Amino acid sequence: MRLRDCHNFGDFRRLAKKRLPGPIFHYIDGGADDEVTYRRNTTAYDSVDLVPNVLRGVETVDMSVEVMGQKLDMPLYCAPTALQRLFHHQGERAVARAASKFGTMFGVSSLATVTVEEIADLAPGPKLFQFYFHKDRGLNDALMERARAAAFNVMALTVDTITGGNRERDLRTGFTTPPRLTPSSLLSFAAHPGWAWNFLTGEKFDMPHLSGHVRTGTNLPASVGDYFSTMLDQSMTWKDAEKLCAQWGGEFALKGIMSVEDAKKAVDIGCTGIMVSNHGGRQLDGARAPFDQLAEICDAVGDQVDVICEGGIQRGTHILKALSVGAKAVSGGRLYLFALAAAGQQGVERALLNMRTEIERDMKLMGVTKLSELSRGNLRWR
Ligand code: LAC
Repeated sequence: MRLRDCHNFGDFRRLAKKRLPGPIFHYIDGGADDEVTYRRNTTAYDSVDLVPNVLRGVETVDMSVEVMGQKLDMPLYCAPTALQRLFHHQGERAVARAASKFGTMFGVSSLATVTVEEIADLAPGPKLFQFYFHKDRGLNDALMERARAAAFNVMALTVDTITGGNRERDLRTGFTTPPRLTPSSLLSFAAHPGWAWNFLTGEKFDMPHLSGHVRTGTNLPASVGDYFSTMLDQSMTWKDAEKLCAQWGGEFALKGIMSVEDAKKAVDIGCTGIMVSNHGGRQLDGARAPFDQLAEICDAVGDQVDVICEGGIQRGTHILKALSVGAKAVSGGRLYLFALAAAGQQGVERALLNMRTEIERDMKLMGVTKLSELSRGNLRWR
């Protein structure tokens, strides 16, 4: 199987599975507990059908959107995800360049393996920084000031990782950062020599935003679940979120809002965006899927804040359904991570191209030339 055989999410996932050592593949692919929420994040889209219109003159379509003050050429952006250097030696550089080429936003995690300064240099497009609220207040201030100095456009505070999710695949494989060299992980590296060669001969693994401040996860191996549980501040409240929003003073979002009550509070503290998200099904299993929860959140706050539907998206039609309900844009992680693992920047570009092609085709088949023409009127719940 080669990159040119990758036509959809499942194809990229299969190719990534071939290229990656097991513990790394399962870190990306896994969810919490029984992975019920992870599966529902995608199947939720099947509960709704599209009702197309025809004969509308659709030779040119405009799929651009404006979200949190950023003009995006397509309604999908790359959600921030951690540790990209583990998935491909180009790491975040590949995703940043690909997203820029497609005129869309790239989210950079606090747990990234490339610095915000370098990303800013190589990706002129809109950029979001994903902030984790640590116990270490010096680290928190440093993260925010670095993102500001690198002219990041949007700050997103993660609010759904107050403790680590129960990721049993990681427990079974022993996945940690930095990767712990055990007999079984060495065996799985040896079985993937291309990956192992690039990882071992390339630049040393680092999480440069954290490594000057904390040793857990950067020097001392820890699972991501343990990192969340021990390094993040579980006493975080709405007061802290409000302070961070004021400290940033620009476009500010809460990532991981699921209830109407919280969506309204986000508006009250001055947020300009919210990501309706359950962290890709990696935190609270049994939580509702973002698409299932989207309508009530858009009804409550959709005219006051930009609502982004995050998670489970694998098709252009999923995006049109989310926008029809009222989301301003959508974002996804695994949809470009498997492509990154499969083929670096070229892979991510192909994944974004596939999605852009699908969105364009689906808009034409729906009979719309602008995304603002979509509404709940063109949906039916089964
Ligand atoms: C995860 C974090 C790091 O879900 O976003 O693994």
